[in-house]
This record gives sequence, structure tokens and C-alpha cells, in this order.
Amino acid sequence: MSIFICPVCGEKLELSDNSYICPKRHSFDKAKSGYVNLLLSKHVGKAVHGDNRFMIQARRSFLNKGYYEPLSTALCEAVCTHINGRSILDAGCGEGYYTAAIIEQLRQHNIAAEVYGIDISKAAVEYSAKRCKEAEMAVASVFHIPVADKSCDMLVTLFAPYCGEEFLRVLRDDGIMIMAIPSADHLWELKQAIYDTPYKNEVKPYELEGFELLEQKRITYDMHIETQEDIDALFSMTPYYYRTGREQQERLSRIGCITTKADFELLVYRKFWLE
Ligand SMILES: C[S@@+](CC[C@H](N)C(=O)[O-])C[C@H]1O[C@@H](n2cnc3c(N)ncnc32)[C@H](O)[C@@H]1O
Ligand SMILES: [Zn+2]
Repeated sequence: MSIFICPVCGEKLELSDNSYICPKRHSFDKAKSGYVNLLLSKHVGKAVHGDNRFMIQARRSFLNKGYYEPLSTALCEAVCTHINGRSILDAGCGEGYYTAAIIEQLRQHNIAAEVYGIDISKAAVEYSAKRCKEAEMAVASVFHIPVADKSCDMLVTLFAPYCGEEFLRVLRDDGIMIMAIPSADHLWELKQAIYDTPYKNEVKPYELEGFELLEQKRITYDMHIETQEDIDALFSMTPYYYRTGREQQERLSRIGCITTKADFELLVYRKFWLE
């Protein structure tokens, strides 16, 4: 039985042939690539459709070159260490780079688990569904997760929007949440090459309501980015991309190659619950 629920009435969805159907006969067909669209138009905020094809393509190409592999390795280790149950939800899974790595790691360790992914971008979910055939993938928002209460043993949230209320709802009591965020020095040298007065990333306090922090790991290393294409792809993955003026864009386009820091925080939380 899937953990997905009907976005219309909230009842459990059952997968039959290529459709998810609820007891009230609301039905959602799987697309050819294997995902299901559980996003209702009323759950889509103004112009919030997630990443577009260009951003997804850029991220896919950059990640596939392995630049963030040390983070992926640390994430997979944390998943295997803390998994205690079967269901894992990647909330804001993008095109499934980390989802696929988690599935592969679980397979290598003979850990039986069901992996689910949601993202609000249809283009991203199309990729992730093709990439992670073993997982169940849905177009959906993290602000209205079409997943039953307390049905996830683990939730991962990697550089994606955070919705504490929904994450606490879908996690079982004492469920685990793993989060990755950029740390202070992330892409520092790249920012120095572009901006006159670059700023370090602000790292917010780690405390999150309803969660207890179990583990915190900083992952810092130098990335040698050898082509302009990779630099452009990396930059388009950042929040600065749409806020950069023409002069800075020009500086960016002339970099050619650069060594810059990757700097992340990997945070493992446990849901607080009252017995
Ligand atoms: C920076 S990307 C990270 C993707 C993936 N976790 C990764 O690290 O490769 C952020 C993702 O969040 C998705 N997103 C944005 N708003 C969302 C929402 N309300 N619900 C679900 N996903 C959302 C975007 O479409 C995008 O794929
Ligand atoms: Zn229904």
C-alpha cells in the first residue's frame, strides 16, 4: 500500500494498474515516465511552480558530474545510520539525484525500504521518476503533502522549501528528518569573482520547532570547476542567479575555470513526540 493519499478527500490511494484510486473513486493516472500528478491547482501559490526546465537541466548536468558527491555520500551514510522503518520521503526531490543515491545505498546495504519523492515541478518529477524506477514519485507541494499522517519513517529535505507543520504531520512519532543546507563559505571564491562586496551565507540557528537535533556535520571541500559551462550551471542553481546585474553576469561569463569551496551542513533531526 502506498503512503500517498487522495489530494481531494484525503483517503488512502491504492495503485491499481496505472492509476492511483481512492475509496471515493477519485483517480489519478500515472504518466508514461511513472509519476503521478497529485497537485491540485488550489495548492499552487501565485507563480510557484518550482524549478523550470532550464534550471533543472543545469542542475542535472552539474550534479551528474559529481561535484556534490561528498555531500551525497554523507547523506547516504546518515540515511543508513538512522533508518529505522521502511518509508522514506524526499520532499522537494528535484530531478532525483540524491533520491537515486539513497536508493542505491539502501540496495547495497540490503536495507528494505520504500522510497517516495515529491516536487512541485512536473519537469523535475519527470526526470526523477525515470531515474528512480523503484520509487513512487508525485508532483505535489511540500505545503500540502499528499501523504498520510505519521506514515513516513524518514523525510529528507535538501535545498528545498521547508514546511515544519507538514513534515511533522507526515513523520511518524520519533521519525527522522535529514536536511542539507548551504553553509557560510559555500561558493565563496565564485562570489568573490563576481561581486565587489560578496557576503558569506547566513546560517540560521539549527533549532526547529517540534524537532530535536541529533547530529550536525559540516562538509567542506574545494571544487575544481573546469569549464565555463559548469560554472554557468552552478550559478544558475543558486538564489543569486536572478538577482545579478549585467556587469556581474559579464564577470561570471569570463571566469572560464575556478576552484571554489563547497560548504554544506547536514543536519539530522528526530521528531519530538509525547507518549
Ligand atoms: C534547489 S532544488 C533542490 C532539488 C533536490 N532536492 C536537489 O537537491 O537536487 C529545489 C527544489 O524544490 C522544488 N520546489 C519549490 N517549491 C516547492 C514546493 N512548494 N513543493 C515542492 N517542491 C518545491 C523545486 O521545483 C526544486 O526542484
Ligand atoms: Zn478521494
